[in-house]
Amino acid sequence: MAAWAMLMVAMLVMAVGLDAANTNGVYQPCADTKIQRSDGFTFGIAFSSKDNFYNNQSHQLSPCDRRLSLASLNSQLALFRPKVDEISLLSINTSSFFPDSYGGYMVAFAGRKYAARSLPAFVANSTYIVTSFTLALEFQKGRLQNLYWKRDGCASCSGNTGFVCLNKQDCAIKTSSCKNRGGTVDCSLGIQLAFSGTDKHLMALNSWYEVENLRQYSLYGLYSNLKSSLTSQYNAFF
Ligand SMILES: *[C@@H]1O[C@H](CO)[C@@H](O)[C@H](O)[C@H]1NC(C)=O
Ligand SMILES: *[C@@H]1O[C@H](CO)[C@@H](O)[C@H](O)[C@H]1NC(C)=O
Ligand SMILES: *[C@@H]1O[C@H](CO)[C@@H](O)[C@H](O)[C@H]1NC(C)=O
Repeated sequence: MAAWAMLMVAMLVMAVGLDAANTNGVYQPCADTKIQRSDGFTFGIAFSSKDNFYNNQSHQLSPCDRRLSLASLNSQLALFRPKVDEISLLSINTSSFFPDSYGGYMVAFAGRKYAARSLPAFVANSTYIVTSFTLALEFQKGRLQNLYWKRDGCASCSGNTGFVCLNKQDCAIKTSSCKNRGGTVDCSLGIQLAFSGTDKHLMALNSWYEVENLRQYSLYGLYSNLKSSLTSQYNAFF
């Protein structure tokens, strides 16, 4: 893991409510922890080809599992530490990182004995790139149980000529329209987080419901007020 090339990442947070203290001392993605609301929680996103996430092409393993030896394969790692239950937009700058050069898929993961990992999500190939994602983190009694990519069936881009709907689930743009690839669009990746389930005190994590509600009011429009670089260019399409 230590040998993995790391990506530059950023987090944009909509601070809601009180700023309580962190009690989670685990800063490694490949370690187990239990969280409470307002803790920081560390997880990783690994980029590689789809096959590299599978053992013997059949069984998907966590990127923390040494049997995958991802670090020695063509891969990149991004680490994040969002606050639990806070609405966060993570971004990965693609000005010098082309996801398609690293196999074009990503897997979100955390934990070792209680390892959780998402399915591999298509990010990019030489033709298309998907730049916005929603990642749901589901906890039970404070332990991460599941990570999954939440999709809206291309509802957010239907009718927009700048986008293509891939596999009836992902809004993609042409890789050739990205900066440094012949185009003008900043194709940095935006990952919206949503927390669900319960923390270690059995308190419900609610940000998922807030994200669902916000969607109707265009989350991207909301974020563009806070940080223009990631989203304002898309307002031209929306
Ligand atoms: C890998 O898959 C092949 C073909 O399905 C099988 O013959 C082989 O035993 C598997 N190896 C392991 C280590 O599971
Ligand atoms: C890129 O991915 C799309 C969607 O999965 C697929 O239709 C297309 O054939 C791929 N292009 C290349 C060059 O692999
Ligand atoms: C990505 O990095 C480039 C170069 O530093 C910068 O111009 C651009 O605004 C960044 N994009 C985002 C979304 O932060």
